[in-house]
Amino acid sequence: MNHPLSPQNTRWKSFDSVEGLRHAVCDAIVSRAQEAILQRGRFSIVLAGGHTPRAVYRLLRDLPQTAYVDWSKWHIYHGDERCLPPEHEDRNSLMVEQVWTHFVAIPKENIHDISAELGPVAGAAAYANTLAGAPTFDLVLLGLGEDGHTASLFPNHAVDNSADAVPVFDSPKPPSERITLSQNRLNNSRQVIFIVSGAGKQDAVENWRKGVPIPATLIAPENGVDVYCYEVKIAA
Ligand code: 6PG
Repeated sequence: MNHPLSPQNTRWKSFDSVEGLRHAVCDAIVSRAQEAILQRGRFSIVLAGGHTPRAVYRLLRDLPQTAYVDWSKWHIYHGDERCLPPEHEDRNSLMVEQVWTHFVAIPKENIHDISAELGPVAGAAAYANTLAGAPTFDLVLLGLGEDGHTASLFPNHAVDNSADAVPVFDSPKPPSERITLSQNRLNNSRQVIFIVSGAGKQDAVENWRKGVPIPATLIAPENGVDVYCYEVKIAA
């Protein structure tokens, strides 16, 4: 098990409704984007996979013109991807396209999907190459699995941190073959927001808050992490 390179500074935010959580994440993304584009002329965001963030991506699709979002300056990356064909319904990249990016004017060349169809080793090498040209991420979105995994960093599965993108061969969450950004590369970011929704995540959150070293605690960027929670009790 890898260990955090620095202690994680964690800020917990509880929401009374899933809609409240979703809108808060959407608002945080948009304000981070406006700030990044103003300061650096581009916004680099890493997307979480799985089901939880879908509705947030849909809110981004439905943003009004008055949000003045300059999609041409957005760069999309993925925190992990399943080694499946691009058109497979379980691909994170397909989910993002179907609920969001197909509907907005982010330039195709700015959407950096992981070529996971190449398989874990070749796909990870190709993405590490893509990431070599990527700046510090402005924002990383992450989910949390019931076992405390995040991206495709799983408990008792040490991850090779020598590369920005690494292969996973035995994921306990199907499919077994995946590609994930490494702990180090995920930590090279200005902001990290975990989106945690559903009572099924309660044990993982309790372990997290008790200091049990679950993979989510590996993510310890300089500015700390924000954990947006719904249906998970955050004991004082
Ligand atoms: C994946 C995700 C994974 C996900 C968690 C939570 O590709 O499977 O990256 O890390 O974020 O498993 O998934 P849910 O949001 O579906 O609960």
